[in-house]
Amino acid sequence: AYAWFVLGKGNLADGLSRLLTVLSQGYLNPNTGGENIPVTEGELSDLAGDQPLFVNLFNFFIECGGVYKLAFGPKCFIVVSDPVVFRHILRENAFNYDKGVLAEILEPIMGKGLIPADLETWKPRRRAIQPAFHMAYINSMVQMFNDCAMKTSTKLERLTADPSKTAVVDMEKEFYNLALDIIGVGVFNYDFDSVNSESPIIDAVYGLLKECEHRSTFYLPYWNLPLANVVVPRQRKFSADIKFVNDELDVLINKARANRTVDDIEALQNRNYDEVSDPSLLRFLLDMRGEDATNLQLRDDLMTMLIAGHETTAAVLTWALFGFAMHPEIQEAVVSEIDEILGDRKPTYDDLAALENTRLLCAESLRLYPQPPVLIRRALEDDVLPGGLNGDPNGYPIDKGTDLFLSVWNLHRSPYLWDNAEEFDLGRFKRPNTNEDFNGAWAGYDPEKMGQLYPNEYTSDFAYVPFGGGPRKCIGDQFAFLEATSALAVLLRRYHFELATTPEEVGRAFGASIHTENGLKMKITRREGTQPAGFSGGVSTAAAAPGCPAAAA
Ligand code: HEM
Repeated sequence: AYAWFVLGKGNLADGLSRLLTVLSQGYLNPNTGGENIPVTEGELSDLAGDQPLFVNLFNFFIECGGVYKLAFGPKCFIVVSDPVVFRHILRENAFNYDKGVLAEILEPIMGKGLIPADLETWKPRRRAIQPAFHMAYINSMVQMFNDCAMKTSTKLERLTADPSKTAVVDMEKEFYNLALDIIGVGVFNYDFDSVNSESPIIDAVYGLLKECEHRSTFYLPYWNLPLANVVVPRQRKFSADIKFVNDELDVLINKARANRTVDDIEALQNRNYDEVSDPSLLRFLLDMRGEDATNLQLRDDLMTMLIAGHETTAAVLTWALFGFAMHPEIQEAVVSEIDEILGDRKPTYDDLAALENTRLLCAESLRLYPQPPVLIRRALEDDVLPGGLNGDPNGYPIDKGTDLFLSVWNLHRSPYLWDNAEEFDLGRFKRPNTNEDFNGAWAGYDPEKMGQLYPNEYTSDFAYVPFGGGPRKCIGDQFAFLEATSALAVLLRRYHFELATTPEEVGRAFGASIHTENGLKMKITRREGTQPAGFSGGVSTAAAAPGCPAAAA
């Protein structure tokens, strides 16, 4: 059955199917405990129906409940789709869980970076990195987001220049490039300029990103075998890519070290970023008094943030634009808001906070296409999972070593939590939820009460966890959310986007994130009489962010 599954049908290209295949074969611990947990068992081939694996995992959820065990022979793992159990694992008993199999896969790439780090390594690094995302930095990043988005806008301007031809552009690809440029400048003040060019460093970074995805979705960890990095061509390329990127990072770290101006955290958080020549996370980490991280630790931190912050944001933009293009009423609400609040002005933090519909477009994209679609944990000690909304009220005892998959996909599409869960609908965040099965946990979206940029795990009591929750919640949530809102504001102000294919042709591919199968091909036309924010007569009126020169330059 295994060979058939691996070598068999076409839909096995679905990355997550392969991830689970592997997990059940190689990495997974057979421990689970939880004798009273509903079990779905079967041959691996059961998973290879005509539907993508995620649809199967969703169907099992409806059949078996918010906590169930997926068993293949001696191996099994627990799939969680219930907000109360999410809250328990992510927040209430968070330190009883580490990243398990995910850490094993990512460690060769991210080293001791925050995402794979064991708890002992994680605690001091999180304490060091968290303050770097302070308000003055975020404000200075907002300027940079706009300037980088203007480079994409200028590229679209070129592509739409001939009115006799309809420009068709793969916007997923453009969003990947934009997100790479932004994360490079924001994290270590390096301009990849991937929107406009190709280079060996861009090639190496994309090579690493692809390898991350490959390793998290391939069925056998063959790269751990002796000499794999010599014999297997893609592993040879991986070794070369990682060396190339690490060497470049070392150069950047050493250069930033040379300009080190050590100060206390508070002083650093209050400095005037207009006067800092290279405002980046790296700058902050190096300047912080008492922080003497080695080049190796800094490299791991930077590499982790490069990978964590790139594809995720690009995917949010891709699915936001897809949802936008499919719904004329959303187009009207979002574009009129941008015209009214922003016009051709360059957005500030406050403007982005005021663009409620544009932000909710990102929020709804993250609900239906969570990035990543599952969170992975392993129990460090025995625990008792709560029964959740419709499980065993006595809870589910589980053993140390149990592997858990927290399916954000199931949670965000749960019919017990959301009205018309499959609908792309911005309005859902503005009105009280009428779904009576929900036990009153979802209180709706109240920006005044929250004082937050986006609906989140607190306001939804873990029904909506776009950036995870608890101590290991995403450290770049504000950065990413503002980045996506800013990019949409700049581009939707100036261009009209129409899907150039059928929605089915766009397709969905599940991997470390959810991307399209065939790209997001859009027909693009200029909106007459508009300019992107801060744009004036071909040259940005805004001072160019470091590394992201004025769009027309
Ligand atoms: C962790 C999502 C952007 C850095 C996470 C987690 C999620 C997430 C769900 C929790 C993972 C878990 O619990 O296993 C996203 C999404 C993004 C985004 C959807 C874009 C829309 C970013 C950016 C950065 C970043 C821009 C950095 C600049 C990190 C780091 C962690 C993390 C370092 C690990 C935190 C820790 O364990 O302490 N992200 N992320 N992410 N994210 Fe993000």
